[in-house]
Amino acid sequence: MTQILVAYGTTEGHTGTIAEFVADVLREQGHEVTVADVKATDTVPDGCGAVVLGGSVHVGKHDPQVVDFAARNLEALAERPSAFLSVSLALVGDTAEAEKYVRDFEADSGWTPDRVSLVAGALLYTQYGFAKRQLMRTIAASKRGVLSTDTSQDTVYTDWEALRRFGEDFAAELAASH
Ligand SMILES: Cc1cc2nc3c(=O)[nH]c(=O)nc-3n(C[C@H](O)[C@H](O)[C@H](O)COP(=O)(O)O)c2cc1C
Repeated sequence: MTQILVAYGTTEGHTGTIAEFVADVLREQGHEVTVADVKATDTVPDGCGAVVLGGSVHVGKHDPQVVDFAARNLEALAERPSAFLSVSLALVGDTAEAEKYVRDFEADSGWTPDRVSLVAGALLYTQYGFAKRQLMRTIAASKRGVLSTDTSQDTVYTDWEALRRFGEDFAAELAASH
């Protein structure tokens, strides 16, 4: 059993949902998991044996608070098995763009995770304010049918089965390294 920190940053809440889902998968695999928002967590606790960090992309960049969390914990992250969950909507239509966000994140934070998983995010139209809803609808319309423009409902693009496999694979790696 390993104590795992699943830390995340979120703007609209979806990466928090993803972090909780991954934490449940890791618990099913027998690990003890703490889920923490980077807004309320400065460091990787000493007793922690592995870290999963999740962050979403807004306006072409990963959450600065997630970048800062990685940057100030470089040593702790290097000493433990680690993984990064990169949440974006680019992944729905343009994997190259989603990969570029990760390269930029690695350059900005100085952290090279052992494992990276690209995760499709969500269009939460009903939860956005007016301006954000209009902006996201315009962006979605420019993607030519790839993203929903129906602002009357939310659309979640996250592949939960792929995320489950990510959690199971990460847990298997931890087991193999003991
Ligand atoms: C204002 C805004 C800007 C966004 N900009 C991008 C972007 O530049 N590239 C992208 O791939 N996804 C973008 N997204 C999609 C988010 O990454 C996606 O909605 C994700 O699920 C948000 O996660 P969160 O709820 O944890 O913040 C944007 C979303 C919003 C609301």
